[in-house]
Amino acid sequence: MNICVIGTGYVGLVTGTVFADLGNDVTCVDKIKGKIDSLNKGIMPIYEPGLEEMVKRNVDDNRLFFSTDLKDAVEKAEIVFICVGTPPKDNGETDLSFVEGAAKGVANAINGYKIIVNKSTVPVGTGDFVRDVVEKNKTHNTSFDVVSNPEFLREGSAISDALSPDRIIIGAPTKQVAVKLLELYATIGRPMLITDVYSAEIIKYASNAFLAIKISFINAIADICELTGANVSDVAKGVGYDSRIGHAFLNAGLGFGGSCFPKDIQSLVHTAERLGYDFKLLKDVLDINKERVPHFVEIIKYKTGGLKGKVIGVLGLSFKPDTDDMRDAKSVEVINMLLNEGAVIKAYDPVAMENAKKILPAVKYCANAYEVSEDADALAIITEWREFKLLNMERIKNLMRRPVIFDGRNVYDAERTKKMGFEYYSIGRA
Ligand code: UDX
Repeated sequence: MNICVIGTGYVGLVTGTVFADLGNDVTCVDKIKGKIDSLNKGIMPIYEPGLEEMVKRNVDDNRLFFSTDLKDAVEKAEIVFICVGTPPKDNGETDLSFVEGAAKGVANAINGYKIIVNKSTVPVGTGDFVRDVVEKNKTHNTSFDVVSNPEFLREGSAISDALSPDRIIIGAPTKQVAVKLLELYATIGRPMLITDVYSAEIIKYASNAFLAIKISFINAIADICELTGANVSDVAKGVGYDSRIGHAFLNAGLGFGGSCFPKDIQSLVHTAERLGYDFKLLKDVLDINKERVPHFVEIIKYKTGGLKGKVIGVLGLSFKPDTDDMRDAKSVEVINMLLNEGAVIKAYDPVAMENAKKILPAVKYCANAYEVSEDADALAIITEWREFKLLNMERIKNLMRRPVIFDGRNVYDAERTKKMGFEYYSIGRA
């Protein structure tokens, strides 16, 4: 099948590459020429395990192309995927201007029947909006259909998530249109659900909101554990064994960040408001999430006896492991609060330091965790990178001025770390 993917961000680049890998002819289009030039040289705009190799393989095999020429890509394509950014406005509403721009671009280029697929995370009703924009602006008298096919991939495991998703949701106006998408995904062999367009749009938000509820719930339980002397890791394990609940997304910590959860939950609250429903549950989820970092920093301040002039070593900067993405990363909030209290910050992250330097210029960036530990008054673990679990803790202890660890992601075993001679504070494990 010939496919056009508009937008080479996380979703567009990974989706386009995976479709090419499945044997389709794919052109990924972006209006940023520099990005397309880099991609054509094999330089990836993001860090994502396995992506570079897969792009190279498909470019070499002449199945994957990168271009700024939307018209040409749309003309050739049977299916056009809209994968552009949907950032939040100040009031939490989703800004659809990039979606609108992409829809206008398709309308200008359309030369015959196409299926236009919304893969970007967009509020319910956006399918109608795209349909209207294309209808009003099309320069060729042809029919077309608009489908919602939300993407569920996670950063850091995007390739395997796209190749082996838990489910594929196809929100289509008719069975025939849905069948075309089924054909495209058939080789993946994963469960597929066909719905109307509105339901598919809501499934994406409902899924992210439910996962966010799990995270805020376990974080609230962590607070209760701290007040009672219980251990949230054991509580989560015990609760997760109930097959109706499951173990996933019950890791207590500094809360959820990244480019999806915070904005998607806000967007759903906003959509509900627009529809006349006050989504109090989700407002509480956001409030609990907002409290995580101030609570953590308060503990650091109290246990170190004041932060003025103290050297705090920060391990992990990206919003989660296996990505260099700093969008809504908890490290930014933690570090800015520590700096405001007069602390000196040294930091290390395996891949996110280049991105972090642009947002956190006042930090001293180090080559590894050991350099961070040198003369530090405390270490704060912000992102649970695997390599932090494998550190030589004896060496870390000897390098530090005072061996104190504030573990914001419950990376270490509390008993063992204390036995090694550290003062150790973690989340929900008194
Ligand atoms: C998420 C969804 O999982 C994905 O399906 C959707 O397409 C995009 O949004 P992503 O943002 O890449 O993916 O990361 P995810 O692994 O879901 O983590 C989101 C945030 O929740 C991170 O900040 C992570 O640290 C936090 N988290 C996750 C917890 O605090 N505890 C957990 O138990 C799990």
